[in-house]
Amino acid sequence: MPPTLTTLISEELIAERVAELAVEIDRDHGDTGELVLIGVLKGSFMFLADLARRLTTPHRVEFIAVSSYGDRESEDPGAVRLILDVRHDIGGRHVLMVEDIVDTGHTLSYLVRLLKARLPASLKTCTLLRKPDRSQVDVAIDYLGFDIPDVWVVGYGLDYNQLYRNLPYLAVIDPDQV
Ligand code: IMP
Ligand code: MG
Repeated sequence: MPPTLTTLISEELIAERVAELAVEIDRDHGDTGELVLIGVLKGSFMFLADLARRLTTPHRVEFIAVSSYGDRESEDPGAVRLILDVRHDIGGRHVLMVEDIVDTGHTLSYLVRLLKARLPASLKTCTLLRKPDRSQVDVAIDYLGFDIPDVWVVGYGLDYNQLYRNLPYLAVIDPDQV
């Protein structure tokens, strides 16, 4: 039986919030000029595509991919491994990292450390979602779409076992079925 999906954030609400975030980002980067958006694969692909279309600030698009060792319950849940790096040097550039969701914060914290070491002119973070109840590491989020409760969400780029990324909205997947 397919799992039950319950809408958490509709397509319309996502679009509205993405447009607001783009206005904020454009406002903050009016003087800095060109940006490099770095999308964290795979989860951010849809968010980044929509955000990029809303931004008026000229920007390049890069992708980076990480994987967590093991799963949520593994002994070292904070371990993160880089599996795909950006193609161009970000030294001296204004960088905006684009994430789908900040859960424990380990992934974003690892990526901030990694990219800061390359001496960008500035480094900011943008995430569509955050689960404040799950936070384990403090990591600065400059642009946040929505805070959500501790539930497993799928859609709009986010997956459960690599499925449901294509849903145009965000849904909660029934915990008894996952
Ligand atoms: P963190 O390192 O614990 O902050 O985990 C961040 C990563 O875990 C995200 O980039 C997602 O890939 C994944 N993740 C956490 N919660 C969810 C969820 O509810 N749905 C789908 N992926 C999630
Ligand atoms: Mg992610």
